[in-house]
Amino acid sequence: MILSIESSCDDSSIAITDIKNKKLLFHKKISQELIHSQYGGVVPELASRLHLEALPRILAQTKEFFPKLKAIAVTASPGLSVTLNEGVMMAKALSISLDIPLIGVNHLIGHIYSVFIDKDVTSDIMILLVSGGHTKILNMQNGYQNITELATTIDDSFGESFDKVSKMLGLGYPGGPVIEELAKNGKPIIDFPIPLRQSPEIKFSYSGLKNAVRLAILENKYSKEDIAASFQKAAIEHLTMKLKKLFKTKTPNNFAIVGGASANLALREEIEKMGKKYKFNVIYPELKYCSDNAAMIGRVAVDMYENEDFVNYNDLKVQPRVEFKKEVL
Ligand code: KG4
Ligand code: ZN
Repeated sequence: MILSIESSCDDSSIAITDIKNKKLLFHKKISQELIHSQYGGVVPELASRLHLEALPRILAQTKEFFPKLKAIAVTASPGLSVTLNEGVMMAKALSISLDIPLIGVNHLIGHIYSVFIDKDVTSDIMILLVSGGHTKILNMQNGYQNITELATTIDDSFGESFDKVSKMLGLGYPGGPVIEELAKNGKPIIDFPIPLRQSPEIKFSYSGLKNAVRLAILENKYSKEDIAASFQKAAIEHLTMKLKKLFKTKTPNNFAIVGGASANLALREEIEKMGKKYKFNVIYPELKYCSDNAAMIGRVAVDMYENEDFVNYNDLKVQPRVEFKKEVL
């Protein structure tokens, strides 16, 4: 069994995963969303202090598994360094005291593996990763060691743009679920510009759209619901327009949407339509595994364990940013 720890942002989570059959045996998460909500976003210093309380509280519930543990896994990159440190410190202490190997996991690979919890890995898969910190199209061939990046954002991420629009409307954090809910009761009557519409390049940008929403709010003539519906439509259309461009040169067999914003049902619906048109399978994580969690980290760790992909505690450092190898289209 592997014990995995996630603390890259505002969720404290620990999981236990069986190495042989990849099944999740224990999973617990304490989310700090409500506390950060009053500040309109994650406050790193506060998040770090809350991990310090929450992680040991969850760990205490896993003691029965300790004798059977074969490795300790932890998210080491990317994320907020002050919060990553909390999980990494706990993981190093456990690895030293139990005398078992340490595995450092990339959080973004964790999101990809959120679709493989309790399952084998799909060998050939294209991924749309939409979270608070990232908007990327990735390609994975035969597991985590062979991931390439096809496209990324040049400024804000998809999830972050929902957070910022929610904040501008005076609503809570995280903005994604709030805006999605509001949008259900609104009409997309505002014609927001689709970012990079004329550009032939496959890349994303959300800062211009965010500014257009700010100006529309200042006009004071639209309801929050209509602003949310119009913004969400443009934000999703930007993704689907770029994906269509990509599918002209590269059509996947399997396509996964992962990351916190993969919970957005309007986005899922549009990707489903594309799946029918371009004939690929669409794969999502279960809703409970879309946002940050240790179950996805544990699932990557099982594959890393099998490859003996361990790290010495002296060498495991947190990295706020990581890059994937770029694939030229
Ligand atoms: O993956 P995640 O939990 O944390 C990061 O690694 O960033 O993603 C959180 C992000 C937040 O920006 C949140 O607003 C967004 O995912 N999100 C959504 C939805 N649910 C969460 N964005 C759009 N629609 C949603 N339903
Ligand atoms: Zn995440």
